[in-house]
Amino acid sequence: MSVFVTRRIPQVGLDRLREHGIEFEIGQPDDERPLARSSLLAGVRRHEVLLSLLTERIDREVLAANPRLRGVSNMAVGVDNIDLVAARELGIPVGNTPDVLTSATADLTWALLLAAARRVVEAHAFMVAGRYDLWGPELLCGVDVGPGVTGRRKTLGIVGFGRIGAAVAQRARGFEMEVLASGTEASRARIDAAPDVEACRFEDLLERSDFVSVHVPLTEATRHMFGADAFRRMKRQAVFVNTSRGPVVDEAALATALTGGEIAAAGLDVYEHEPRMVPELRDLTNVVCLPHIGSATVDTRDRMATMAADNAVRFLTSAE
Ligand code: NAP
Ligand code: GLV
Repeated sequence: MSVFVTRRIPQVGLDRLREHGIEFEIGQPDDERPLARSSLLAGVRRHEVLLSLLTERIDREVLAANPRLRGVSNMAVGVDNIDLVAARELGIPVGNTPDVLTSATADLTWALLLAAARRVVEAHAFMVAGRYDLWGPELLCGVDVGPGVTGRRKTLGIVGFGRIGAAVAQRARGFEMEVLASGTEASRARIDAAPDVEACRFEDLLERSDFVSVHVPLTEATRHMFGADAFRRMKRQAVFVNTSRGPVVDEAALATALTGGEIAAAGLDVYEHEPRMVPELRDLTNVVCLPHIGSATVDTRDRMATMAADNAVRFLTSAE
């Protein structure tokens, strides 16, 4: 009984497998290269459990490649890279890594929000390009996140009020923001129970918010949830932040909205066709873009790797 680890994971995760006396093979040990599809299929045939990353598409072909497959342990909270319908039909359990990455991802959401609002990346580029010759009263002015001198509290709209959405809302208190949240019927009770958070229809949230932050999973219902219509509804001064999944946003529509001044700025950690982003976004100064590092702190990634290894061990031992 052994585990196919698709790509390298933090050492603690591998150590955890060893502690349990479990053998494993790493499909792609080179951090900078993806795992070839043929290697994924060959690997899954050789092992009983798959420990995957979000970079691998675990579709029906992969899941059906080995009738002895006991489980898929994804080292991510999002499982949109896995065909859950096929997994259920084939009786293959799927594991993920919720909770341990909530804080890190909520923090990064705020880093993007603040950087976009206060033009931090643009200012950094200005500085290192040697363009700072003279301080000026209107140099690189952004927008207030807190009430600032006007005293007007800003409104943060959170779309998808799960673990990360709620953690982002909690951090807004320090900025004295009004917080709106839209979510599913099932999450309504959680929104109502959260202090100082107002439940809101999606369309109303878009129209009322100064900052809109997305925290839904990628599903057929959320794919392109943010398209031309959504951006048109938002305030012209609005800042849009996405740390969920790229395809939740129609990236071409986002580029058009930013170029045409329909919204003011965006902070992005994820992309519709990851790892690529539409070239129109790359050239805009009002976009802060990161390479999907929401959960990327050393401690968090260690916890995710350990949790993914524990899930893999559980799949193997419960099959005995
Ligand atoms: P979660 O606790 O499951 O929260 C997701 C929330 O979205 C749930 O409350 C869910 O409602 C809600 N939702 C689902 N469909 C919706 C819809 N159509 N409209 C409105 N709300 C909807 O998950 P999480 O731990 O907060 O993570 C959220 C997502 O963030 C993950 O799925 C992943 O894609 C992404 N993520 C990205 C990074 C990164 O590195 N950038 C890191 C971690 C996570 P229910 O309560 O009814 O299910
Ligand atoms: C990261 O994007 C995750 O889903 O864990």
